[in-house]
Amino acid sequence: MASSANIIAVGGGKGGIGKSIVCTNLAIGLALCGKNVVLMDTDFGASNLHALLGVDAPKHGFGDFFHKNSTDPESLLLDTGIRGLKFVCGAGDNPGSADLDQDNTAIITEFIHNLDADFVFLDLAPGTSYNVLDFFNLGETGLVLTTPEITSVMKTFSFIRSALFRKIGKAFQGNPELERLVDHSSPAKADRETHSIDTLMEQLIEIDQGQIPVVKSIVDAFNPGLIVNRVRYTKDLIAGENLIQLVKKHLGIEPVFLGYLIESDRVRDSVDEMVPFLIKEPESKPSRNLQKIIGALTHTDLELVQKDGEIFLSQQAQLFPDLDT
Ligand SMILES: Nc1ncnc2c1ncn2[C@@H]1O[C@H](COP(=O)(O)OP(=O)(O)OP(=O)(O)O)[C@@H](O)[C@H]1O
Ligand SMILES: [Mg+2]
Repeated sequence: MASSANIIAVGGGKGGIGKSIVCTNLAIGLALCGKNVVLMDTDFGASNLHALLGVDAPKHGFGDFFHKNSTDPESLLLDTGIRGLKFVCGAGDNPGSADLDQDNTAIITEFIHNLDADFVFLDLAPGTSYNVLDFFNLGETGLVLTTPEITSVMKTFSFIRSALFRKIGKAFQGNPELERLVDHSSPAKADRETHSIDTLMEQLIEIDQGQIPVVKSIVDAFNPGLIVNRVRYTKDLIAGENLIQLVKKHLGIEPVFLGYLIESDRVRDSVDEMVPFLIKEPESKPSRNLQKIIGALTHTDLELVQKDGEIFLSQQAQLFPDLDT
């Protein structure tokens, strides 16, 4: 069973910032380290993760699962050719498939929780729709990406705030006066604008002080990991620091910086060639960046080496010393 502790969603507000590439290679990295990993495409409007894995036309995806209730959930777990890694395709790109209704969302959530895996990686769609935020909030560890551009930093900040407010909104469910503090999805609900945790707390003091500890515990438990992608210069890493400061100031939480991935033709070429860069060149710079991120995520020091066409975990690495998985 996949507990929330080992469900890892990769998000960030902006499209095209490398969420799918990072998510895929993280999943591959953990599989190469001997873990049982499921990588899942939750971009139900424009599934394309299979292409990054070199899978041409997936036989099964959630599309047929929704339409044929009898479909065996096991049939959705596609082989990737990588030991320990299974893949679940999205719903194709049928018009409307991105708009998951409550029933289909519940089906997917149950499917994810029933997966028998050490790690489940969820590749999220761009944006801050409720579907995206709910998948992000499914696991304990959400990862957010930004690129060095200010527009990306701002969008990732908005993404983190939306995910946090969505979580708080669920705790307020059934109480419209409280819900409208954190749910600004329609103009009718947006009469009480709340932009930061401080303004939310100020309003709660007026409306319902009993909710303050509830919100505090949600905020305390909300600790996304941050990855900066497409780094060209050391100064690009400032974007990560700026984002952390912004989140700290306005939301009262401190994302954990997990590492960065350099801008590299090797990454871009791996997309064109449909061979993940970690498999193609495990000892290249971007692959080393990625191994550092896995190390930060799992509190280990790991290094992959390639010998006679096979990829190994180097001898000195000690995997998961603090985890009992
Ligand atoms: N580190 C990098 N170096 C070079 N190119 C990169 C890097 N990261 C991403 N790219 C380029 O950006 C493109 C988009 O990446 P990807 O599909 O992972 O983004 P995404 O955030 O998942 O997009 P979407 O929001 O549309 O799902 C890749 O096809 C690749 O060309
Ligand atoms: Mg993507």
